[in-house]
Amino acid sequence: MPDSRVPRRRRFLVCEPRHFAVQYAINPWMRPDEPVDVGRAHAQWQGLVNAYRTHGHSVETVTPVPGLPDMVFAANAAVVVEGRVFGSLFHAPERRAESVPYETWFKGAGFDVQHPESVCEGEGDLVPVGRWILAGTGFRTTREAHREVQEYFGVPVIGLTLVDPYFYHLDTALFVLDDGRAGGEGNIAYYPGAFSPGSREVLARLYPDAVLATREDAMAFGLNSVSDGRHVFISPGATALAGRLAALGYVPVPVDMSEFHKAGGGIKCCTQEIRENLS
Ligand code: ARG
Repeated sequence: MPDSRVPRRRRFLVCEPRHFAVQYAINPWMRPDEPVDVGRAHAQWQGLVNAYRTHGHSVETVTPVPGLPDMVFAANAAVVVEGRVFGSLFHAPERRAESVPYETWFKGAGFDVQHPESVCEGEGDLVPVGRWILAGTGFRTTREAHREVQEYFGVPVIGLTLVDPYFYHLDTALFVLDDGRAGGEGNIAYYPGAFSPGSREVLARLYPDAVLATREDAMAFGLNSVSDGRHVFISPGATALAGRLAALGYVPVPVDMSEFHKAGGGIKCCTQEIRENLS
């Protein structure tokens, strides 16, 4: 075990939950008849932003649009690799319009945005790590989009099939602990039960040292975490996983996003990472 895990400063894009609500149901977590505490959601989201800034990360914001209650889930709007932005085409018609304000933000920040031709939900399903991009399919992002992503970035895309509707996006079942930028393949944590048998085998071959999480950890949104290589911003409910990570030399930073769990999202869903040039 390395005696000291080294953090790398990240650039994050987030969206204030000013219009956050559960108004429709497009995953099993969403119950439009159960109210969301908007004040509490806002305080939790501010807690996440503060935690990132306290740990030295840069946080920028895109202005929320009324009528787009899921726009807070910034991860779904794009995937950014080496300063190149591959945008989103949302599966649910209710979310399609979110692409516009995000694209405007990216353009204003100096990035061009490539448009997908088939359904693709950004970092929700596309997870860059090491020399490739892990890509989920089964509920949202399509195989065809995986092909487009590989063609656009010229980075190998490893398709993984999700089989449990509670883990409908790859980022609800897997996260990057170490992104490999410092050398090596990097490492991940995941919940094997969210994947088809073949995909489980792929993950086991690629990441023999991965941290395997339980269903309890996954249901507590413990796999919807963000790691900077040292600090792991993680749901406080994922106690077993946090304990494992601490034993491996990571520093869990608990951030409670329970109001967002009601929409099927957590820490990572609320966070878009802007990966610029390798340096
Ligand atoms: N209600 C949103 C949806 O179902 C939640 C998205 C969560 N984001 C994520 N990256 N998993 O699309």
